[in-house]
Amino acid sequence: MIIAFACDHGWFPVREKILEHLKNMWHEVIDVWPQNEEPLDDFPDYAKLVCEEILNWKSERGVLVCGTGVGMSIAANKYTWIRAVLAYNPEIAKISRSHNDANVICFGARTMSIDDVLSSLDAFLETEFLWGKYERRNEKIDCLC
Ligand code: RB5
Repeated sequence: MIIAFACDHGWFPVREKILEHLKNMWHEVIDVWPQNEEPLDDFPDYAKLVCEEILNWKSERGVLVCGTGVGMSIAANKYTWIRAVLAYNPEIAKISRSHNDANVICFGARTMSIDDVLSSLDAFLETEFLWGKYERRNEKIDCLC
């Protein structure tokens, strides 16, 4: 799977572990982070880059990391067709896929253990959408404004 990735400042240990984990699982990662530590950077700029990768059909899924995951998920969900989940455990990640067809997952580097991040990431990538009534509900979300 092709996965777009970004994190804001300060979360390099988590960033490196996520990237290594994805590569070990043979995923192709598009890391949109500009590769220079900028303490004044803003997470919406990175959420935008990852969402654009998906909306332009360059990536299938997105992974966003900030301090809590909250800001990234709020920013990503501004886009129609982006369904971002702040998944703080594997069960949330799994249901966000099977029921909600989430295409972006957000993590809190300050609020989650690396074990919870990686196990939630695995659940997100391995779980299929169930379609049926869940598709109808997603279509209703797309009509909200
Ligand atoms: C930035 O310091 C912090 O606010 C950000 O990483 C995130 O937690 C926002 O939701």
